[in-house]
Amino acid sequence: MVRGDCFSNHPILNGTSGVGNVTNIGGVNCYVTGCSLSAIAILLISDVYGYKAPLLRKIGDKVGDSGYYVVVPDLLNDDPLDPKNLKRPNNVWLKDHEPGKGVEIAKPIIKALKSKNVSAIGAAAFCWGAKTVTGLATANLTQASVLLHPSYITVDDVRGIKTPIAILGAEHDSLSPPKLVKEFKQVLDAKPEVISYVKIFMNASHGWALRYDPKDPTAVKGAEAAHKIMIDWFDKHLKK
Ligand SMILES: *[C@@H]1O[C@H](CO)[C@@H](O)[C@H](O)[C@H]1NC(C)=O
Ligand SMILES: *[C@@H]1O[C@H](CO)[C@@H](O)[C@H](O)[C@H]1NC(C)=O
Ligand SMILES: *[C@@H]1O[C@H](CO)[C@@H](O)[C@H](O)[C@H]1NC(C)=O
Ligand SMILES: *[C@@H]1O[C@H](CO)[C@@H](O)[C@H](O)[C@H]1NC(C)=O
Ligand SMILES: *[C@@H]1O[C@H](CO)[C@@H](O)[C@H](O)[C@H]1NC(C)=O
Repeated sequence: MVRGDCFSNHPILNGTSGVGNVTNIGGVNCYVTGCSLSAIAILLISDVYGYKAPLLRKIGDKVGDSGYYVVVPDLLNDDPLDPKNLKRPNNVWLKDHEPGKGVEIAKPIIKALKSKNVSAIGAAAFCWGAKTVTGLATANLTQASVLLHPSYITVDDVRGIKTPIAILGAEHDSLSPPKLVKEFKQVLDAKPEVISYVKIFMNASHGWALRYDPKDPTAVKGAEAAHKIMIDWFDKHLKK
C-alpha cells in the first residue's frame, strides 16, 4: 500500500450497512442516524468513496450514540471514485467532483435542518470532504468543525474559519503533510477569536481514521483515538 494518499484501501460499498436510514434532506440523499429529536445535528462528510462506505456509517452511528442527529450526505451524487474504472482515472474523477463544490450542495441541507428542530450544527470531514467543512465554517453556517486527514485544502481555506475547529493530521500524508498542518496551526494561532486544536498523529497514514482495517487492533486503536477527539470537540462546543 502506498502510504499517505487519498485513494488506497478503498472500501467495498453496499449502501445497506449501519443502523440508520437513507432519506432526502434539502434535495440530497443522506444516511441519517442517531437521535432524530436532537437539537444538534452533525454533518459527517465522506472521502472520495462516498456515503455508502460501511466504516463511515459505523462512525456516524457512534457519533449518534452521543446524542446527536447525524447526517451523512451523498455529496458525490452516487458517483464515488471507482479505482477499478481505468477509463476514469482519479484526476478525471476529481474534475467531476471538485472538493469545493460540496459547500453549495450542503447549504440546502443546513437550511432544511434549521427549519426543523436543529439549533446548532457541527461538521466533520475525512479527506475529500475537508473543503466542504472549511467552506461552511467560513460562511459561518456551522458552529464547530473537525477535519480528519484533510485533503485539497490550503492555508487560505483555514484562514476564513469563524467557529471552533480541530484539525487531525497524519505523519505520513502526501496531501496534508505535517509541514502544511503546522502552517494551518500557525494561521489558527494568529486568530485567538477562533478556538482551535491541531494534532499530528505520529506513525499514522492519511486515511487512518476512516479507511482502517477493522481486524487490525493497532489500526482500530488509532482510528478510535481520532473519533474520540472529534466527539469530544462537538460535546465541548455544541452542547451548551
Ligand atoms: C454490507 O456491508 C456490511 C458491513 O461490511 C455487512 O454487514 C452487510 O452484510 C453487507 N450487506 C450486503 C447486502 O452485502
Ligand atoms: C429510521 O427509520 C425508522 C423507521 O421509519 C425510524 O423509527 C427511525 O427513527 C429512523 N431513524 C432516524 C435516525 O431517523
Ligand atoms: C426539539 O428538541 C428538543 C431539545 O432537544 C426536544 O426535547 C424535543 O423533543 C424536540 N421536539 C421535536 C418536535 O422534535
Ligand atoms: C456567526 O453567526 C452567529 C449567529 O449564528 C453570530 O452570532 C456571529 O456573530 C457570527 N460570527 C461572525 C464572525 O460573523
Ligand atoms: C506503526 O504503524 C504500523 C502500521 O500500522 C504498525 O505495524 C506499527 O506497529 C506501528 N509502530 C509503532 C511504534 O506504533
